[in-house]
Amino acid sequence: MAAALIHDIGDALAPWSHGEMVGAVLRPFVSERVCWIIQKHALFQAYYYAHLMGEDRNARDKYRDHPFYEDCVEFCEQFDQNCFDPDYDSLPLEFFRPIVEEVFSRPRSPLVAAEELC
Ligand SMILES: [Fe+2]
Repeated sequence: MAAALIHDIGDALAPWSHGEMVGAVLRPFVSERVCWIIQKHALFQAYYYAHLMGEDRNARDKYRDHPFYEDCVEFCEQFDQNCFDPDYDSLPLEFFRPIVEEVFSRPRSPLVAAEELC
C-alpha cells in the first residue's frame, strides 16, 4: 500500500523515468516484486493511453514472460488507472501515515540499495 501511495512522487522530477526513480527510493524497503512493479508501472500504465497518441499500447508485452508481469498489470488496474477519477472516494492522507512510517523505518538491508537491481 505504501508503494501504491508514493509510486508517482518522481513524476515532476523525472516525467519520462519516474518509475525507475521511485524504484530506487523504494528498493531498500520493499520486496523485489514490489520494486519491479513500481519501476515498470509507467510502461504498463501506457496500455490505457498510448494508442491515443499513436504509440503501442501493448509495449508492456515485452515482459509477458516475466514472473511479475501479471502483478504489474493488476497494480495498474487497481492502483493507478482508477486514480485519475476526480470523484474517486479517496482515504485521507492521515490514514496512510502509520503504514508509510512502518515501511520506511525498516530497510531490508543497508546494502540492498547499492547492490541489487530489481
Ligand atoms: Fe506513474
